[in-house]
Amino acid sequence: MISITVIDRDDQPHVLETPTDMGLNLMEVCKSYELPVKGTCGGMALCASCHVYVLSQHELPEATDDEIAMLDQAFFVKTNSRLGCQIKIHDALDGLEVKLAPEAE
Ligand code: FES
Repeated sequence: MISITVIDRDDQPHVLETPTDMGLNLMEVCKSYELPVKGTCGGMALCASCHVYVLSQHELPEATDDEIAMLDQAFFVKTNSRLGCQIKIHDALDGLEVKLAPEAE
């Protein structure tokens, strides 16, 4: 199990405990804790409803072309923007801290 801190859109931190051996991604973990992450496309990098800002210094895999293309069309994108559904949960992400991006209107 690892712990991930997710700061919601009201600046409230939530510490999520998640297993690393179930092939989950960050969007799925947020949904399982009932955080307001829609995950509309089911994790296909096609909706940006799982957009987060990565606040900690964890090394994440490079974004794929699909993720970059989706973030290109998303709102409120910053240099630390990532799609939660493209962040696979694994041991090295223990202590990861992210903030939910604002919802697109
Ligand atoms: Fe749609 Fe992540 S859930 S892009």
